[in-house]
Amino acid sequence: MWLVSIVLVSLWAGSSYGVLYDAYTGEPATKCLLSYYAKNNLTNTCAIDVKPCDPNEYSRVDGTCNNLEHPGKGTYFSPITRILDACFHNGYEQRKAKSGKDLPLAREVRVKCLGEKVSSHPLYNHNVPGFGIYMFNDIGSVHDIENMLLNTTYCCEKEHMNDRACTPNIVKEDDPVFRYSPIRCMNSTRPLTHQDFGCTRDKVPSIIKKATTFFDHSQIYNVHGKGDKVIRSFIDGKLLVEEEDGKPFPPNGPTAFCPNNKAPEETRCFENYGNTLLPVALYIIWFVRHHNYICDKLKEVNPCWDDERLFYTARDINTAFANQMYFQEWYETLQGRKNLIKAGVMTKENGFRCLYDKNRDPEVTIEYTYVIRWFHLMQEEKAKMYDKQGNYVEDFPLFNSTFRMGLIAKNMESFTKSTLAPCHAVDGTVASDLANRGLPGVQEALDIPAGDLNKGRNFGVAPYVNYIYHFTGIKIKSFKELARFIQEEYIEILEELYEDVEDIDLMVGLWCSKMMKGGHIPELLAYILNDAWYRSVSSNRHWYECDERPHAFTEAQLKEVRKATVSGLLCTVGDGVHEMPKKGFLKISKKNPMVSCSRIPKINFRVWADDACKPKKHQKNGKKPNKH
Ligand SMILES: *[C@@H]1O[C@H](CO)[C@@H](O)[C@H](O)[C@H]1NC(C)=O
Ligand SMILES: *[C@@H]1O[C@H](CO)[C@@H](O)[C@H](O)[C@H]1NC(C)=O
Ligand SMILES: *[C@@H]1O[C@H](CO)[C@@H](O)[C@H](O)[C@H]1NC(C)=O
Ligand SMILES: *[C@@H]1O[C@H](CO)[C@@H](O)[C@H](O)[C@H]1NC(C)=O
Repeated sequence: MWLVSIVLVSLWAGSSYGVLYDAYTGEPATKCLLSYYAKNNLTNTCAIDVKPCDPNEYSRVDGTCNNLEHPGKGTYFSPITRILDACFHNGYEQRKAKSGKDLPLAREVRVKCLGEKVSSHPLYNHNVPGFGIYMFNDIGSVHDIENMLLNTTYCCEKEHMNDRACTPNIVKEDDPVFRYSPIRCMNSTRPLTHQDFGCTRDKVPSIIKKATTFFDHSQIYNVHGKGDKVIRSFIDGKLLVEEEDGKPFPPNGPTAFCPNNKAPEETRCFENYGNTLLPVALYIIWFVRHHNYICDKLKEVNPCWDDERLFYTARDINTAFANQMYFQEWYETLQGRKNLIKAGVMTKENGFRCLYDKNRDPEVTIEYTYVIRWFHLMQEEKAKMYDKQGNYVEDFPLFNSTFRMGLIAKNMESFTKSTLAPCHAVDGTVASDLANRGLPGVQEALDIPAGDLNKGRNFGVAPYVNYIYHFTGIKIKSFKELARFIQEEYIEILEELYEDVEDIDLMVGLWCSKMMKGGHIPELLAYILNDAWYRSVSSNRHWYECDERPHAFTEAQLKEVRKATVSGLLCTVGDGVHEMPKKGFLKISKKNPMVSCSRIPKINFRVWADDACKPKKHQKNGKKPNKH
């Protein structure tokens, strides 16, 4: 009897060998707090187990030990920072207009500011919004959508509309699309807070995020905070995959949610990854395959490396690849090289740089996770589908692929090719599916941009002009003064919608903005993106461009990682991809023609060759190793 309980106790102790930290404060949890959590069954939710940090280890998938002095900060479920203080009414209600009245309805603002039209972007292809949304998933959280679909499903029922959990989008009688239908409401839930879970009693609502604070592929290596154990094969560093039609995919599983799969043909549904939007699914599949591709290449040059070494090195390269693609290629596509050099995001030398400051807490801002939704404007609603012989078959409504991994897996070539078509133009309109049926199959009606606007109010994001002031020092006191930032034809519309210029929502300001000089996004959006870049590089000890981090790249390795591009990624892991445009975020044109994949730069893994794996005989007698 005694023996059994001793064994049990030591097993239990062995599984949690670290110190429990409070997820909300990021500090070690006091005894008193822990007993409160234990009593209320909150330990698993509000506390995080931090095994002792080793300053020389690789970055951990759960974000612990990134900051050695505050190893509990920046982890899964840790709070989000704000650029400007939260702006709520009465605690956690949406802010009011200056006059004290309600702000204009989100759907009404969307309808007046953004029409519905089919239109093609003059420069960009689907990878611009697609990759942006994938990277959002690395640090952001769609738990409010999960909540709306799986749990709090009743926000459009009359008796629940005013529930604290609900913030439905009201559709007016004279709605241009739904006036002849019974739809008068679209579902929306308030984001969950650390307060909702009982993890803090602080006054200011702290919205949760289900990802680490770092750009580290959370959506691949630490989905739902489950850690890397569930996704690893433990063979040669690789992630678990299953073959379908001879191609590797993340494995299926019993708890995966793909309500739009059409049985019996469509069976793919990822157990350990998100099964949401098409672009997110594509990039998950591509980066999972890319991880395994990197493992194969590393194993080739380093046959003596074990699973652990291969896994962590491949993850590090895969993460650096995405960050290079995002903060250099994607940002450059949007803002232009000159602007990025001026902002410090790009350098002419392109060498190492260490901006890490251990006194900075790991940070990602709620404004950043919010304004990324501006790229919804670029989302197209149709894709041309081709058969195996390359013949055009039909225009497929892209939103119908949501929650439908089975369809995506069966049509990878078509969907991959579809990403090279022009995306929706930023011309004051949006795709009509985006605006009216954003989640077909699971919601009767959903206006995604209106939902975005509403979310900003739920997040307590400050008004538009406050951000203009924060980033430019310009104080805007009247609608007229908006002219420097807002397109002329919008000023009147905004004046009609809002009582005071200080009432305008951040997202609406961005919808109506002029584009920045030398770039193709609003200037204010660029400031917020660049702010996110700076916070990332300066608060992430494992940032890939720094040569002082543990397991840092050598100069030669960094040079290889700098070759990362979306075209390189698709040439490596894309289905049926033999050629790509030189610039993979730009549409195909005379200036940007398709070229053979053999002309797209690829990482040379030889620079990872480890002397320890070389046959011993070369080192005897002090002879130089043979050149192969
Ligand atoms: C305690 O919380 C966990 C989730 O953290 C849940 O799965 C479990 O059912 C809860 N137990 C009780 C007794 O409420
Ligand atoms: C589901 O919603 C109810 C009511 O809003 C809430 O009490 C419950 O905690 C929620 N469950 C989860 C898992 O979020
Ligand atoms: C797309 O989804 C809508 C709504 O569920 C449905 O009416 C339509 O038939 C679907 N179209 C295709 C081509 O699957
Ligand atoms: C709101 O959600 C409920 C439950 O999922 C659903 O039945 C209803 O159709 C949704 N409303 C709309 C407008 O989509």
